[in-house]
Amino acid sequence: MPDKVYIHTFGCQMNVHDSEKIAGILKAEGYVETESPQNASLIIFNTCCIRQKAEQKFFSELGRIKPLKKRNPSLKIAVTGCIAQQEGSRILKRAPHVDYVIGPQNINLLKNIIKSSSVQIALEDNPLLADIELPVERTDNVKAWVNIMYGCNNFCSYCVVPYTRGREKSRASDSIISEIRKLAETGYKEVTLLGQNVNSYKSNTDFPGLLKAVNEIDGIERVRFVTSNPKDLSEELIHAIRGFEKVCEHIHLPLQSGSTKILRLMNRKYTYEDYIKKVGQLKREIPCIAITSDIIAGFPKETDKDHLLTINALREIEFDGIFAFKFSPRPGTKAAEMDGMVTEDIKLERLSEILALQDKITLKKNKALEGTIQEVLSEGDIKADLPGKMTGRTRTNKITNFVCNNSNTGRLVNVKIIKAQKHSLEGELV
Ligand code: 5AD
Ligand code: SF4
Repeated sequence: MPDKVYIHTFGCQMNVHDSEKIAGILKAEGYVETESPQNASLIIFNTCCIRQKAEQKFFSELGRIKPLKKRNPSLKIAVTGCIAQQEGSRILKRAPHVDYVIGPQNINLLKNIIKSSSVQIALEDNPLLADIELPVERTDNVKAWVNIMYGCNNFCSYCVVPYTRGREKSRASDSIISEIRKLAETGYKEVTLLGQNVNSYKSNTDFPGLLKAVNEIDGIERVRFVTSNPKDLSEELIHAIRGFEKVCEHIHLPLQSGSTKILRLMNRKYTYEDYIKKVGQLKREIPCIAITSDIIAGFPKETDKDHLLTINALREIEFDGIFAFKFSPRPGTKAAEMDGMVTEDIKLERLSEILALQDKITLKKNKALEGTIQEVLSEGDIKADLPGKMTGRTRTNKITNFVCNNSNTGRLVNVKIIKAQKHSLEGELV
């Protein structure tokens, strides 16, 4: 019987893709994945500490599996990802049933670490990270994540990422292109280029140059990318989105706050006016573009007036969708030490107001699509037990459900939008 591994992933797309690499490494070592920790001889928690809630969720899951180790002392438990990097050996103090602690820059060491019977901790900075090719076991057959860079140099005052994922390192464009060519040969239609700040991608080409090269790969139909930092959004990138036909008309452009005072405290390096200028240019040059964003409610020193500026920003920009969060002080970050903490009650009140307003805007924007025909990349049945009900996304990244009795997974289809909801569109094939 082959060894079984259970992988539990928390956090962002970067972590989801790291888990695909972890699965690839383990498959090459003879492991098969299991959906249940009870059957596993190796349990991996790929963790996130962007906000306290994510961290708490992990520690409670880690506590829950403790009895499994008591029952089966040969079970190995590995903690990878951002909490591994942030907490290091402290995890072992809190949870002595953990065997291995491996930071996000060290997953290439997993292959050897899992062969060790003693406790292993791997947290070194890895300058070669962008040059290492790891096997990938992908969870999807149509859409693929592709790393183009690792780490972050921006040090936004609230954010742990520069501490957990280290400095920016760009992958060579040749290896990115050859990975995407192979994906196209195996039938993938869409790639999402991944980096904390894709606009600062730099190897022998810059980010728009990379988009040009990816746009030319036969078989790939759509190209997406996350995340863009507004301070680095260039005219060349806007032209690339407009000009390269496979690059989808969607940009995730985290604003964080509508108050320039708060943006300064966040160390975002742009003003609200700078942001609005860029949004104006995006909308002018690409009228159908969807813009989504992230907002933090209740950053230190945020007054009612600052909050109102965020509310006004949402009204003025009319994002297609946002992710909004209460500010969460993270150990080691500048913002965690700032004066003027906002109470939990006020954070919650502000967050609720932000979400309620954005819900209305999202619905209004989706409603505007009723009656239009949208190109959708079909991703397959919504659920295995609901045959004929297919799902996919528009170029603008809106989830679209439609009826179709022939399997058209992986194909671009035209769908007439009949009904718009807050989180999805309903349509029929044309
Ligand atoms: N508190 C709340 N939200 C945060 N984010 C990052 N760090 C924090 C924090 N300490 C949010 C930002 C970022 C998104 C990925 O998570 O909005 O864009
Ligand atoms: Fe992703 Fe940030 Fe969470 Fe790390 S801390 S997993 S980079 S969201």
